[in-house]
Amino acid sequence: MSKEIVCSGIRPTGNLHLGNYFGALRNFIKMQDEYNCYFFIADYHSLTTHPTPENLYNNARQILVQYLACGLDPEKSTIYLQSDLPETIELYLFLNMNAYLGELERVTSFKDKVRQQPNNVNAGLLTYPTLMAADILIHKAAKVPVGKDQEQHLEMTRTFAGRFNNMYKCEVFPMPQAFNFGGDLVKIPGLDGSGKMGKSEGEGNALFLTDEPNVIKKKIMRAKTDNGPEQMNQQKPVEIENLFTLLKVVSKPDTVEYFDDLYNRCQIRYGDLKKQLVEDMNLFIDPIRERIKAIDSDEKSLQRIMDMGKEKAHESARRTIDEVRHVIGFRN
Ligand code: TRP
Repeated sequence: MSKEIVCSGIRPTGNLHLGNYFGALRNFIKMQDEYNCYFFIADYHSLTTHPTPENLYNNARQILVQYLACGLDPEKSTIYLQSDLPETIELYLFLNMNAYLGELERVTSFKDKVRQQPNNVNAGLLTYPTLMAADILIHKAAKVPVGKDQEQHLEMTRTFAGRFNNMYKCEVFPMPQAFNFGGDLVKIPGLDGSGKMGKSEGEGNALFLTDEPNVIKKKIMRAKTDNGPEQMNQQKPVEIENLFTLLKVVSKPDTVEYFDDLYNRCQIRYGDLKKQLVEDMNLFIDPIRERIKAIDSDEKSLQRIMDMGKEKAHESARRTIDEVRHVIGFRN
């Protein structure tokens, strides 16, 4: 039996942090053996915000390098730049013919953008869901690993796919479903004692996979703590729970247990916990950071990887477009 097709787009949004890694990325890596995966950098989508040519390319390249360094494997998966696959745009045009203004205007992410950038409400923003549908349907993907915020877009993808199938009395497109591989995503907290790790939360909140060991150290040593537990076995306040969560993802279980025990007996010294966390965090990040540097400096291999992805993606996309064109009535 052939493997089920999975497709997902990656926004080119700068350096990856630990939260990105333990969120979508780690699941992508795990999926590669079981599914026929198509992962692409969504650089067409990023045009809605009008990047400069340098930024457009560099951001896409940077995120590609970092995903590869973390373990996305071009031999197992098809990894490509969206802009290397112009078939997507052809399908986008076809789908747009049956995408209606009313439904596009009602999409939450569009309404948010209208509010955020009232001076740049372009048609690309309005038709963002049709482009996303084209990304997915071009490979006839059945499964799309995305977060909650993308479910409405996926619902639209099914709407467009169903509408096309109905209109041409065919079964060209599947109804792609959101899916979460391997259970819940681990939510990585930030270092400022509040919510999740993110680069918009301020300098020092996030640990980037490109951070040098001394930077990791500085950020962790400065992480927010309290004055220590006052009662045996008391519940940990958020900022302390956060440090334990980080320890859990990079340290051995008995290390976590050791500090948990000290906490419960009111004997914990946060400085010691932090030192341990620094050490284990660096053991985790060091090899990734070094791979990022190695891949980044090997332009030839990177080009080869991009070419390979482009070719594999093209093969799949060509099949779909040929079929779609025929169904629509183009004869050539
Ligand atoms: N919209 C997605 C995001 O913001 C990125 C994306 C673009 C995508 N095309 C896709 C995700 C196709 C899954 C499938 O994260």
